Amino acid sequence: MDKLVIEGGVPLKGSIRISGSKNASLPILFASLMCSGTTVLLNVPDLRDIQTTLALLKYLGCDVDRSSNGQIKISPRVIQPEAPYDLVRTMRASILCLGPLLALLGKAKVALPGGCAIGARPIDLHLKALQKMGACFELKQGYVWGSCKKLKGAHIYFDFPTVGGTENLLMAACLAEGETILENVAKEPEIVDLANFLRAAGAKITGHGTSVIKVEGVSQLKGVKYKVMPDRIEAGTYMAAAAITKGQIKIENCPVENLDAVITKLTEMGIKCLVQKDCIQVVGDTEMQAVDIITAPYPGFPTDMQAQFMALMCVAKGSGTIKETIFENRFMHVMELIRLGADIKVRGDTAIIKGGARLIGAPVMASDLRASASLVIAGLAAEGVTEVNRVYHLDRGYENIEKKLQAVGARIWREKK
Ligand code: EPZ
Repeated sequence: MDKLVIEGGVPLKGSIRISGSKNASLPILFASLMCSGTTVLLNVPDLRDIQTTLALLKYLGCDVDRSSNGQIKISPRVIQPEAPYDLVRTMRASILCLGPLLALLGKAKVALPGGCAIGARPIDLHLKALQKMGACFELKQGYVWGSCKKLKGAHIYFDFPTVGGTENLLMAACLAEGETILENVAKEPEIVDLANFLRAAGAKITGHGTSVIKVEGVSQLKGVKYKVMPDRIEAGTYMAAAAITKGQIKIENCPVENLDAVITKLTEMGIKCLVQKDCIQVVGDTEMQAVDIITAPYPGFPTDMQAQFMALMCVAKGSGTIKETIFENRFMHVMELIRLGADIKVRGDTAIIKGGARLIGAPVMASDLRASASLVIAGLAAEGVTEVNRVYHLDRGYENIEKKLQAVGARIWREKK
């Protein structure tokens, strides 16, 4: 298993171009299952999770081709309803094939994704909503078996604005009979990107990006050419890297309009964020001040940026708190940051970070995607050498992370084990 080796202390300078969004690409790839003809996707990042999804689409019965310029072509042929465990267990988002398969075939057999480092990650809200549309489910042999005659439009209220649940139901409703109203849905930008893709393919969707989405079912969706939005979490991660190294980085191809909470918190910490149309210049030439953060569904502070900001707060002036309200176990990076010299105490869903720590490099262990990013950010500021092990977690969500950081002066390289 590869590791990243980082020699900290270099103020990062230059520009970083943001890749396409992992969390927009994944649902859009699964939505292409429902589109007759060929779908061509642009700006899809080259990540492990994308490779897993392409493998699953092939297994389900699509011709898939990734050209040298990054374009991905998906042509559904004869679709079969089973998503096997050996593919699903490596990527929880595989559950996003459930809605499309039920809408398309009236049946689905999808391996239960199981838990992961950050929490149990149940899919009860997905199943409850699909049942309201007429689907029946049985959980056995580690699979969810679903069937329905034809999905019917329904008025669905989500107990929690689940991102994946909203995506599954949005896709299913596009080919259902009649109108579906989805209430208390997620408003994340990735939901809007998925809805825009589906509308381009012929779906009748309104309200995406708000708490209520309405869908009028249609008989068919057609393959289209579509460019995926940039990745707001990748952008926020590199903004944090600029801040902690007291550097100056221009974040290019940046979804500025989706980063209000991150920009607000960085600014509160004393970091200058010079916002232009599709780029942000981050200037970290001051000592950061600690802040208090509460994660929340969009447009609140994103849980996917929580670990990265915890690294910043380790070295900021003063003490701050981070309350994680989305996942029940998303503090796996705390013990690793403490190995680097951080002073953090966890009380239930809240971490109390005493700032001003002098971070000293050490070997640390990645546990999940964003925890790994937090350790890289801390390593960029730590004195001496930090080794981030199990870097495959990072490869799931960050395209060429060491190359992008090397290009702005970071002393970081990958060692193959
Ligand atoms: C998506 O996960 C993202 N993944 C996550 O990003 C992100 O952290 C999360 O949304 C929240 O923003 C992708 O888009 C591929 P949820 P998802 O359903 O859809 C509970 C990353 O780092 N819940 O909104 O799984 C659940 O347990 C990843 O890129 C139920 O209880 O998130 C969790 O506590 C990590 N029952 C909370 O809701 C359900 O049926 C949020 O889950 C569904 C969810």
